[in-house]
Amino acid sequence: MLITVNPFSQLSGTVAPIMMQAFVIIMISLVIVSTLLDIIHKKNVKYFFENAKKAKKSAKKNLSTTEKTSVILKTIASDIATTSELGAGKRRVAHLLGMYGTILFWVGSVVMIFCYASPSSETPILWPIIWHLGAIMTVVGGSWFWFFLRVDVYSEAFPWYRIIQADLFVLALIACAFFGLIWSFLQSLSLENRWDATLFLALFIISNLVLFGGVYWSKFAHMFYKPGAAIQKNLAEADGSRDNLPPPADAPEQFGLGIKREEPKHY
Ligand code: HEM
Repeated sequence: MLITVNPFSQLSGTVAPIMMQAFVIIMISLVIVSTLLDIIHKKNVKYFFENAKKAKKSAKKNLSTTEKTSVILKTIASDIATTSELGAGKRRVAHLLGMYGTILFWVGSVVMIFCYASPSSETPILWPIIWHLGAIMTVVGGSWFWFFLRVDVYSEAFPWYRIIQADLFVLALIACAFFGLIWSFLQSLSLENRWDATLFLALFIISNLVLFGGVYWSKFAHMFYKPGAAIQKNLAEADGSRDNLPPPADAPEQFGLGIKREEPKHY
């Protein structure tokens, strides 16, 4: 059955495993270098730490190491692992599908390419299943977001086919998973002397080059920045500094009827 076949082991008949491993290492290096360049260019991390230091001055409480650890663990379990920032609803479900799908897809790729990518490899059945399932989740979550939920379409009434630079990340992510799936399917059919599997392998490689080569210009690095920002926000709440923002008002939240007239989605 298709989803139990390790596509990289089959590919190793024509492409040496060392080439696939080199490709993965180059992609990881691209992420590291591009994120560092992005940090230098935007100065966002510098601002982040300066702001955190400034906020600390208005801390009302000195947090012990245990308290800090507990805040960080809670942040990992909620803000990061369940992307709670997105609230309840389809935006969060779509993001979780895409996020965990991508993580499964990447982990599956690395394990199969580094441990089971030779023609004689006996791949434990779990890994191809993880890889294919991850790819399907990424395509479903990513497409749901891109066709229906992204702000341009959902709130600003732009047509779904209008593409801007901000779409680079999500589209490259969907393309990688989608072309990877089709390539794996065609290759598993073992159609001799046919061009289709090779074509989709080429598309799979190109979309990976776009995804990882485009980190500097895309939203890729949010997966590193967001967790850092969430930890800082929750620590600032716990020590009372609140990033120098005023505390919530004591008064009940009465905003009048206006706010209920329409779901707030024009942002
Ligand atoms: C492997 C990890 C992750 C992947 C693959 C991923 C994927 C995505 C994608 C494809 C988008 C849509 C980008 C766009 O075009 O606006 C997105 C948006 C977003 N992500 Fe992630 N993400 C990851 C990790 C995280 C983490 C750890 C957090 C928070 C702690 C996070 C928070 C967000 C938020 C708040 C948005 C904006 C959502 C919206 O506009 O509806 N992401 N992510």
